[in-house]
Amino acid sequence: MCGIVGYIGKQEAVPVLLDGLKRLEYRGYDSAGVTVFNQGKLSCSKTVGRLVKVEELLEKSPLPGTVGIGHTRWATHGRPSDRNAHPHFDCTQRISVVHNGIIENYIELKEWLQEKGHIFNSETDTEVLPHLIEEYYRGSLVEAVQDALKKVEGAFALVVICKDHPEHLVVARKASPLIIGLGKEENFIASDIPAVLPYTRDIFILDDGEMAVVEAAGVQVSDFDGKLLPKKPFHVEWDITAAEKGGYEDFMLKEIHEQPRAVRDTMAGKIDRGEMKVVLPEVKLSAAEINKLQKIHVVACGTASYAGQVGKFLIEKLARIPVEVDLASEFRYRDPIVGPNSLTIIISQSGETADTLAGLREAKALGSRVLAITNVVGSSVAREADDLILTLAGPEIAVASTKAYTTQLLSLYLLAIYLAQERGIISLNDRMGMLEAMMNLPTQIEKVLNTETKIKEFAGNFKDCEDIFFIGRGLDYAVSLEGALKLKEISYIHAEAYAAGELKHGTLALIVEGVPVFAVVTQPELYDKMISNIKEVKAREATVVALALAGDHDTEKSVDYVLHIPLTHTMLTPILSVVPLQLFAYYTAKAKGCDVDKPRNLAKSVTVE
Ligand code: AGP
Repeated sequence: MCGIVGYIGKQEAVPVLLDGLKRLEYRGYDSAGVTVFNQGKLSCSKTVGRLVKVEELLEKSPLPGTVGIGHTRWATHGRPSDRNAHPHFDCTQRISVVHNGIIENYIELKEWLQEKGHIFNSETDTEVLPHLIEEYYRGSLVEAVQDALKKVEGAFALVVICKDHPEHLVVARKASPLIIGLGKEENFIASDIPAVLPYTRDIFILDDGEMAVVEAAGVQVSDFDGKLLPKKPFHVEWDITAAEKGGYEDFMLKEIHEQPRAVRDTMAGKIDRGEMKVVLPEVKLSAAEINKLQKIHVVACGTASYAGQVGKFLIEKLARIPVEVDLASEFRYRDPIVGPNSLTIIISQSGETADTLAGLREAKALGSRVLAITNVVGSSVAREADDLILTLAGPEIAVASTKAYTTQLLSLYLLAIYLAQERGIISLNDRMGMLEAMMNLPTQIEKVLNTETKIKEFAGNFKDCEDIFFIGRGLDYAVSLEGALKLKEISYIHAEAYAAGELKHGTLALIVEGVPVFAVVTQPELYDKMISNIKEVKAREATVVALALAGDHDTEKSVDYVLHIPLTHTMLTPILSVVPLQLFAYYTAKAKGCDVDKPRNLAKSVTVE
C-alpha cells in the first residue's frame, strides 16, 4: 500500500505534493519522491526514508513548476532504497510514473522490455510502467498509456507525467484506490481523500477500469479504450482525521475491513493458475533442501505466534514435517534443539519485535535456515532471514493486529502447500481444491464483514463481563487463542482460550451461570466432540456463543447465540472464523468506551525484551 499524489494548476506544485504526501504517510513511509515539470523538462527528487528527507533535499535544490507527481512508498517488490523510491522514469527521462499496487506480470514485462533495449535502474515492479509507456509512445501520452495498460496484469493506481505534454496528467485505476480533487483552474490527484481536503471537498472517485486526462481546466474520465464516461462529483463531509481512517471511527475497524484487499494482495502472484500450484519467488529453499528437513520451528510473539499455531496444523497435515511453535521470549532460553536440518519460520508483522529478532539470531547461530513472514520489507527480520514471504497488508496502525494476522495465515497456507508440492506429497486434486477455495477467501471475508451489525448489537451484552472463555479443537483452538487475545487487549476483559477437550481437567470449575463461552465449531471431524463440550458448559449454565459454518443448524439448538461463517475448505476456516471474533472484540471495547487503537500499556511494535 503506497500513497500517490498529482497536481496541475496555478500553484507551485511541490508544496501541494508534499502536503498531500504527508497526509498519506499512513499508507507507507519507507521512501518518497516527487517529479515536477518545468521549462521543458522533468526534474525529480527522491530518497529512501521518511518524507522529511525529501523536504530537506528540496530545500537545498528547489523544484519550481506547477505540474507534478509524488509518492510515499510501502515497499513490496525491492527493498527501501533511493533507486527503488518512486517516481520512476523511462530511458529518455521523458515520462515519469508513480504507482500504488502490484504488477503481477512485471517479471515477464521487464524481460520483454529489456530484450527491446530498455535499461532498468530499480528492483521494483513499478518501473516497467514508464518503460512500457515509452515503448508505445508515438506522441500521444493518453494513447501510449492505454496501449501499455493492455499488457499489465495486477493492481494499479498510477499517475503519469510527460515532458512533451505538461498540459495534462494521465491517471488510471484497477483495484487500487485513486481519487481526483476538483478545484478552480487546478486539479488534485491522490490515493485517498485526506490528501486533497485542504483544497477541495468535491472529488471524482475513480472505479476499476477507469482512467482520466487531468488538465488544470478540467477532467475527462474514460475507460481504458478512451470511451468517455460520465462522472458525478462526490462531496466529502468528513474531517481530515476521519478521512485518514477512510471514514471509519478507528484504524482498527478500517484495518478489519481492509482484510479482503490485504488477503487478495498477499495472494497476488503466488498462485500459478495455469498449473494450479504455489510459487514463492523469494523462498529459495530447493526441493532437495525441503526433503532434508527434519523439523520446523515457528518463533513469534502474540498474534503472530497464534498464526503460527494455525501454521503448525497446516504444515504437519500437508507437508508431514514436524512443527514446534515457540513463543520467541521462551525459545532462546530453552537451549532449543535446532540444527542444519531445521527450518525456523519467523513471523512478525513489524519485523522489529526484539524477542522475535533474538529468536531469529539464535536459530541462525544454531545453523538453522530461517524463513521470515513479515509485513515490512526493510525490517530487520526481513533483512536477516534467508527466505521471505511478504504479507501485503499495508501499514497496520492499530495496536491490535488484524489484517496482519489474516495475511500471515494466508502466507502459511501458501507455504504449507508449497512444502507439500515440493515434497511431491500433495495431489493436483487436493492442491486445486485448496487453491480454488483460497482464491474465494476475499469475497467470503466480505460476506462475514456484512454480519457486522449483528455482532455490534450483541457485543453490548458482554461489555460488563469479567471473564470470557473461548474454546475450540484443532484449528478452532488455534483461532480461539487469537480471539481471546483480541478481546482482552482492547476491552480489558479477562479472556482465556482453552482446548475444549481440556476444560474438564480444571477450568470447568470456573464455568458457572452466565459465564460467556465462545465455542468455535468449524471442524467436521471434531464436531461431535465439540457439541459434547458445549453441552458440558451449558450444563453449568454458561452463556454460549457458537461460531459455526453456514448451514449448520444443529449447533444453534445447543447454544444461546450463533454466528455463521461461509463454507470453505476445512483447513481455511481460520481466516474466516477470526473475523467475527475481531469484530466482537472491537464492538465490546467500543461499548466500554475503550481507546481501541491505542490500548493501555501496549505498543504497536515491542522493540524491547
Ligand atoms: C496483537 O494484537 C498484539 N498487538 C501483539 O501480540 C503483536 O502481535 C506482537 O507484539 C507481535 O508483534 P509483531 O508481529 O510485530 O512481531
